[in-house]
Amino acid sequence: MRLILLDEYNEQTMQLAKPIYDRHRRVLLAAGRKIDPKYLERLKQMDIRYIFVDDAVSEGITMEELLDMPSWMDAIEIVQQAFETVKTKQSLDVRNVFKLVAKLVDEVNKRKVLTIIPSTSLEADLRLYAHCVNVTLLALQIGKKIGLNSLQLRDLAVGALLHDIGKVMDGKEEHTVKGFEYLRKEREISLLAAHVAYQHHEFHDGTGAPRGLNGEQIHLYAKICAIANEFEHLVSSQQIPPHEALEILMAKSGSHHSQEIVRLFVENIPAYPPGTRVKMSNGKEAIVTKIISHMQRPYVRYLDTHEEISLIDHPSLLIVETVSV
Ligand SMILES: [Fe+2]
Ligand SMILES: [Fe+2]
Repeated sequence: MRLILLDEYNEQTMQLAKPIYDRHRRVLLAAGRKIDPKYLERLKQMDIRYIFVDDAVSEGITMEELLDMPSWMDAIEIVQQAFETVKTKQSLDVRNVFKLVAKLVDEVNKRKVLTIIPSTSLEADLRLYAHCVNVTLLALQIGKKIGLNSLQLRDLAVGALLHDIGKVMDGKEEHTVKGFEYLRKEREISLLAAHVAYQHHEFHDGTGAPRGLNGEQIHLYAKICAIANEFEHLVSSQQIPPHEALEILMAKSGSHHSQEIVRLFVENIPAYPPGTRVKMSNGKEAIVTKIISHMQRPYVRYLDTHEEISLIDHPSLLIVETVSV
């Protein structure tokens, strides 16, 4: 299995590896099928940009680093419900949010590596919610590495899940301010989680918004959320491959983002997730098959000989670039 851009789909060689959903979270196309050209056109109109496929090149790659699709869709539904209650000015169903947080913490704890399903593999209506789920999964991985305890992880996750809740609220203020004003009045939501919504667009050098806080004034959870948020945008909306997104974050480390947390992020988020087609420094083409311990040194399989090697055992061998299709 591997993730490709919809434009790269080839009916002759590929079939769907995961279902495609519509805006109501219903299965539109089931896994195991080929996409016929008429449907492909429809998916393009729906602006679905990424799909998971099975083909000869990706045979045997299982991508266990991903959340399973039904769990991801359930999580998206809970975030959607939360955002929609806020839109109608009702009080939040915090219990459901906490239940989801516990589930996501579990998903992160049981895996060594977790890669995100781009939110642009869904229709536009669901992307904001999918974005929030993805940001939470990324933030939790960093929280786990830092050694936050379960209560701290919960606050970080609640903050990350709801960081953009202000985007669906009326009013002239920025979404960070609206989100904060709403969340801080919710009795069961901690003030720290509310501050994640408030501070996730602040920059380390004090040039961010809404208050221009500097690195010392920004809360740790908001710093983590800011990095996870930018990475998710780059990979999902801007279709930038993970290794380039990580480079962009490194370039902004010390100015927009905390150096320390960018370093942790880069060490713990895979630059080349399984299923990525790559060109090696020896000129050969390969596909990333799995990641066991070192995030930047995965296992790769040569396309010509099918030989699989660990880049940890071949320290002089480098991935030079990614190859599409
Ligand atoms: Fe935001
Ligand atoms: Fe965001």
